[in-house]
Amino acid sequence: MTNIDSHATSSVDQCRIINLPRVQLNLAGSSSAVQNTPPLPFDIHRIYYLYDIPADTERGGHSHYTEQRLIVAVTGSFDVVVDDGHSRRSFHLDRPYKALYIPAGIWRTIDNFSSGSVCLALASNIYDEDDYVRDYNLFLKLTEAK
Ligand code: TYD
Repeated sequence: MTNIDSHATSSVDQCRIINLPRVQLNLAGSSSAVQNTPPLPFDIHRIYYLYDIPADTERGGHSHYTEQRLIVAVTGSFDVVVDDGHSRRSFHLDRPYKALYIPAGIWRTIDNFSSGSVCLALASNIYDEDDYVRDYNLFLKLTEAK
């Protein structure tokens, strides 16, 4: 396990939508930038994206000891269910300028992917399998004292 474990303090109330700035160019499309406006909750150290996702797939199914994430539906849409061991919330992401913030210590599952959707993930940590909790029963143990 890495450094400080967030499972004892995490709450789904900390999950929120961050509206990214949006530039709309007349007849030439739109763009959104992820930079420190509005202030982001963490420094980004890794970017990855999910694509070619078959219908009825469920992704995620894990929490992190320390890693924080932003998730964006760059194309298409999907649902993210966040869980702190006591409460759950569901977010429908369907706009490329809306980022869902997920702090550490939160279990997340992502499903209901639309055809051709792309899920962009911005992470506070470089990839480290030791930072993952992939066993839901262990997750419940880590969060039960809250
Ligand atoms: P995982 O994080 O479980 O995928 P998701 O949460 O999107 O369903 O990762 C799936 C596999 O990919 C797993 O074997 C770990 C590997 N992986 C990396 O090698 N590097 C990465 O940055 C990520 C996110 C995953």
